[in-house]
Amino acid sequence: MSQPTKSKHESGAVAREEDLSPILPDGSRRRILTGDRTTGKLHLGHYIGSLKNRVRLQESYDTFILLADVQALTTHYDRPEMIKPSVMDVALDYLAVGIDPQKSTIVVQSMVPSIAELTVFYGLLVPMASLLDNPTTKAEAEQLGIGKDDKSIPAVLKHPAYADLVAHVKSYYEERFSEIGDLPIHAYYDALTNYWKERYEFTAIPGPDGQPLDPSELDNHLLMDRFPVSIEMNPFEILNDVILLPHRIRDFRAYLMRSKRTTGLRQLSYGFLGYPVSQAADITFVGGHLVPVGPDQVPLIELCREVVHRFNAQYGQKDSEGNIIDPILVEPQALLGTTELLRGLDGSIKMGKSLGNAVYLSDSTEQVWNQLRGAVTDPQRIRKTDPGRPEVCNIFSWHKTFCGAHEPVINEAELGVASVDEVAENCRGAKWGCIDCKKNLHAKLEALLGPIRERRAYWEQRPDEVIDILKLGTRRANEEGQKTLARVKAAMHIDHFAL
Ligand code: TRP
Repeated sequence: MSQPTKSKHESGAVAREEDLSPILPDGSRRRILTGDRTTGKLHLGHYIGSLKNRVRLQESYDTFILLADVQALTTHYDRPEMIKPSVMDVALDYLAVGIDPQKSTIVVQSMVPSIAELTVFYGLLVPMASLLDNPTTKAEAEQLGIGKDDKSIPAVLKHPAYADLVAHVKSYYEERFSEIGDLPIHAYYDALTNYWKERYEFTAIPGPDGQPLDPSELDNHLLMDRFPVSIEMNPFEILNDVILLPHRIRDFRAYLMRSKRTTGLRQLSYGFLGYPVSQAADITFVGGHLVPVGPDQVPLIELCREVVHRFNAQYGQKDSEGNIIDPILVEPQALLGTTELLRGLDGSIKMGKSLGNAVYLSDSTEQVWNQLRGAVTDPQRIRKTDPGRPEVCNIFSWHKTFCGAHEPVINEAELGVASVDEVAENCRGAKWGCIDCKKNLHAKLEALLGPIRERRAYWEQRPDEVIDILKLGTRRANEEGQKTLARVKAAMHIDHFAL
């Protein structure tokens, strides 16, 4: 097999569709397992990145699709009320784009207990380093504002006590600004620091008898009168200084001590850091061979392969040379859709729920137009008479994605809209303005979204049928999960007796 590209393909984590046959040697169909976190409705980025691919693949593969509601909680545990409506919304999005319940098994993750059980067993085989260094986890943590840099202490800055203290200090300073205006700020600052060091040494707070003092007994105003702080100081300086607010001392100091140890990725919950392990359980519980995902998810597939490999090597039957002859778990591969990500309408590299730059599959004609109208184009094209540069224009990249060549429902001639080449020509030659161009794109998107919207409306009127589809799918998944779990438990010698 000649392989022009290295890396992921060579590591085996990414499959090439052309190398695959949907039918296994024993005549059964290869399995696909994929899913989405249920944190809101799906958008065109999901469609281009994976949904479209799944609709095609369900024709030839035994497809399982997970509504990952437990994984949704890893980032949304504090907003649980949105999970339930999202499960329904994502299910409707699936059915709307053409996921066919006769061909695909749609599964509610939280209702498959074997996934959770497998997560516990797999967790025993995963070194912490694999989780802390996982690029997908890191990228997602960064999106949450948690960097790998230990010097950034966002958790401290986010602590309510901090905001409270800064507010106190600010108002104090603002009130007294005129009174202290004559002295340079650093004079106060030095005095403050020295006083604080000498007096308290950042350890216990001695009272008049040398015994630790209850912070609430300190005279806040007395201290603040002598050692005011400046709003010009950076947050870390203020952080030092605000410790003077005695009623907060103990609480805040304890918090600081803790946060010293809990910086960077170490702030993440066990569940968040461990979710690649649960994703390995998601994939293996049905013996998924292929996982159609975006390129951002590949490190998770690699971790899953690592788990499977370890498991099989540890517990699988081997021949006399140590080769595994009877693997217990299936080693999956990622199947990438288009390699191009759909950019957001603001030009951001990614379309995101939280970025407000998305077109949702369930958006109305007007909502789609409103999004398009405000979208960023070539920033140098100010007047209609300025020639445009399609190669830098985000809307042009959308024209390339949503064209007849890629989406058969978009028939340019029938719709009476410009083809990709004509769009480029009209733009370069200043034959039309950006609004004309967007109107053309809108018509193309409508050709795609119209039927999706209709199917959604159909299923929206039949919520009971949708639930039946989920029940049926989840039951089938449970049967498969029980089989995998039984094999895993037997391999780990914890199959004691039937209850
Ligand atoms: N982590 C995936 C995402 O954020 C969703 C997901 C959960 C998933 N379980 C899965 C994807 C199993 C593929 C296979 O998009």
